Amino acid sequence: MARQVLGGWPIDSFLGPACVRALPIPLRIETMSTTDALSPETTLADLATKHTAASRVFHAHGLDFCCHGQIPLSQACTAANLDPNAILDEIRAATRSDEPSESWDERPLPELIDHILTAYHEDHRSELPRLIEMAEKVERVHAEKPTCPAGLAANLHAIQADLDMHMMKEEEILFPLIRSGRGQMAGGPIQVMEREHEDVARLLERQRELTSNYNPPEEACNTWRALFLGCKDLERALMEHIHLENNVLFPRALRG
Ligand SMILES: [Fe+2]
Ligand SMILES: [Fe+2]
Repeated sequence: MARQVLGGWPIDSFLGPACVRALPIPLRIETMSTTDALSPETTLADLATKHTAASRVFHAHGLDFCCHGQIPLSQACTAANLDPNAILDEIRAATRSDEPSESWDERPLPELIDHILTAYHEDHRSELPRLIEMAEKVERVHAEKPTCPAGLAANLHAIQADLDMHMMKEEEILFPLIRSGRGQMAGGPIQVMEREHEDVARLLERQRELTSNYNPPEEACNTWRALFLGCKDLERALMEHIHLENNVLFPRALRG
């Protein structure tokens, strides 16, 4: 059944009818479609677009909602040996305690681009040098230990080099094209960006291997532990970033 929603949240979950009538300004009412429903047959990309908590739950379970998010949750769970209904329960639980989410599939594209630049491009540019410095220190100081994450600094350097070029292309070419309302002409650049997202996803896969899925060994020092936490957070931020581009910004720009 359709429910009235505001900012992605059902109105009846936070305002009674009397409160809605008493508001001094008219509300912009959106309708929650059936695709918003939490169903095992909804794609990972749609779930992550409609429910902020979903991306965090997917990341915690290693479900790829960014580069390969166009498959139903049930199919992704079968491949990962997970119960899709348990995953949906986790999303519901995380959503109840979550702050209200922004539904970027309804917001103006220039606003979405500004959000991507501030929340992700700027964040990656400041976070990667910090992680690289920590990884170099850990690899230098603990080189003799068999559990030392040898190669992690080089992998982070590779992510940084790829992202520097990639984000520059988006900022200098693709985003201005979309902002000017000519996104329908951006099929070529978008294909290139999607291929580059796959390259970054492969480097993240390598990062997971090098960090034993972000589990530091017993003997890990504080820097080592902070490094693994930072790498895990980088992965989450990159997956959200790629999801917003691949599954929200690019399709909407191409539709015009
Ligand atoms: Fe980007
Ligand atoms: Fe990108």
